[in-house]
Amino acid sequence: SNQPMIAPSILSADFARLADEISAVGGEPGKRADWLHVDVMDAHFVPNLTLGLPVVESILKTTDIPIDCHLMIEDPDRWAPGYAEAGAHNVTVHVEAAKDPINLAKDLRAAGAKAGLAIKPGTNFDDYVEVLKHYDTLLVMSVEPGFGGQKFMAEVLGKARRARELVDTGHLKLLVEIDGGINADTIEQAAEAGVDCFVAGSAVYNAEDPAKAIEALRATAAP
Ligand code: DX5
Ligand code: ZN
Repeated sequence: SNQPMIAPSILSADFARLADEISAVGGEPGKRADWLHVDVMDAHFVPNLTLGLPVVESILKTTDIPIDCHLMIEDPDRWAPGYAEAGAHNVTVHVEAAKDPINLAKDLRAAGAKAGLAIKPGTNFDDYVEVLKHYDTLLVMSVEPGFGGQKFMAEVLGKARRARELVDTGHLKLLVEIDGGINADTIEQAAEAGVDCFVAGSAVYNAEDPAKAIEALRATAAP
């Protein structure tokens, strides 16, 4: 892992002022989001509903920050490639929902996106090492997906550590991302486990100055 990446999640932003909330994290280099994390929820895979492809298309028009779509939806095999075709930089699907994750990764890459695979806190990592050979990003969930502002589950860090080890030994070529409960108190232990990219929703958007919060998180995660 090189420079830690910070991906603010707009789940904790004010959806009625989305363009302003996005430009608040798109400013000066040191305070700028590396990726903008967009949580798509369908009220079936998770018990919450957020936004879908039309909103993502509008977001893509309003910013040049690379868009990181986290799809918490059923049947991603059917819906995820549309987000890649729209121009999302990274499209992450849940392994618990994907019917044919290897083929889906190929579809996402063919549409020009990086392919991400997310695993819920209770999902085993080692079962998916072969599948992950087809992916660019592993998203380790450190809360149960569905809501922002939940408590960080440190017990998932073993999975991040194991992924880091397989990347460092050349068995996998993945960016290791973590999502849920990342803040000034928890980011250091995640960085220590070898995470490359840190999603932060409430820690960025509930801060008085989101840009400063990004800068502080990055500094705390830096080795
Ligand atoms: C939860 C989402 C997260 C959420 C994280 O299901 O996937 O991206 O926005 O929010 P915080 O950082 O507040 O835990
Ligand atoms: Zn997310």
